Formats: sequence, C-alpha cells, structure tokens
Amino acid sequence: MSDCGFTVTVCLISVSLQVPGVIDGSVVLPCSSAQQDLKLQDINVHWRHNNREIVYDIIKGEDSVEKQDPQYKNRAETFPEEYKRGNFSIKLNNLQHTDAGKFSCFITPSNEQETVELRVNGFFVATCVCCFKRATIHLCCVLLFFFYIHLFFIYLFVQLYLLSFKGVI
Ligand SMILES: *[C@@H]1O[C@H](CO)[C@@H](O)[C@H](O)[C@H]1NC(C)=O
Repeated sequence: MSDCGFTVTVCLISVSLQVPGVIDGSVVLPCSSAQQDLKLQDINVHWRHNNREIVYDIIKGEDSVEKQDPQYKNRAETFPEEYKRGNFSIKLNNLQHTDAGKFSCFITPSNEQETVELRVNGFFVATCVCCFKRATIHLCCVLLFFFYIHLFFIYLFVQLYLLSFKGVI
C-alpha cells in the first residue's frame, strides 16, 4: 500500500472463485455407460486419479478395494444399486487438497471413458487492489486462502476507500 501515496483513490476489485469441492466436503464424480442391456457380471470399471492412483475398481460388477490407493481408503463410496442403470458414479468424502486433478473412469469391455476435473480449493479468493496515482496504475494482488481473512481485507479496503473520500488519507 505504500506505493499509493497520500492523495490516492483506492479501488477494489474482488474476484471469488466458487469451486465444487470444498475441503472436508464431499463430491459425486459422475460416470455413466451409454450401453443398454448391461450384463453386470461382464463389466469392469476402473476409477483413476491423474491416470495413476487407483481410486476404485468395480470388477465383474462387484466392488473391489484390494488395490485401492491408501489415500482413498474409506473415502470413496459407490452406488451399487445404480450399476444396473449404467451409473458407476462414485462419491468422494473428506476432500483433501491432494484430491485436486483429473478423475477418470474406464469402463470395459465397452471401452468408455469419462474424465472429470476436480478443483479443491475451498474458499480460494483473490483480492486485487488498484492504486491509481496520476497516470500510473499500481496493481497489487493478494491471494488469500481463507474466506474470512478475505472478508477482513474487503472491510479494510472499504474503510480506506471511505477515508480517502473524506480526505483523511
Ligand atoms: C448416479 O448415481 C448418483 C448417486 O445416486 C446420482 O447422484 C447421479 O445423479 C446418478 N447419475 C445419473 C446419470 O443418473
């Protein structure tokens, strides 16, 4: 803020990104087969995170967590009653920052694949303050990870803005 001098107008631009996944929350990752007349005992579904970690396997229509990556232990839920409708969506609970990335489900033998990108940033917000000083514009951006700190900064900037109107600063 020291760049702003004493006779400046402070303007505030605040950008908030709403993301589907919030820390500790849960999210349903969609996966559907377009195939009709599914014979469940023939179907395998492989859920992978960033093409590497094994999130969940459905082998011959049955849940299998044998090779599941430990980080998904007890955090991934399936909906077996939906399988016969070709719905192999899973629910991921207790979301962590490390869950961010691409989740893919591969369905065999139909060779279908669905990928969903998960962003887990909680209330990730950016606060940008523009300081106008004659022809120069100083732009300072503050990235804040916590919503309430963000609110505090907005409050602070609004107060500064009002004070600059009254000619105090
Ligand atoms: C699949 O099942 C899940 C869990 O019940 C549900 O949230 C989702 O909407 C279903 N998807 C489709 C395409 O029916």
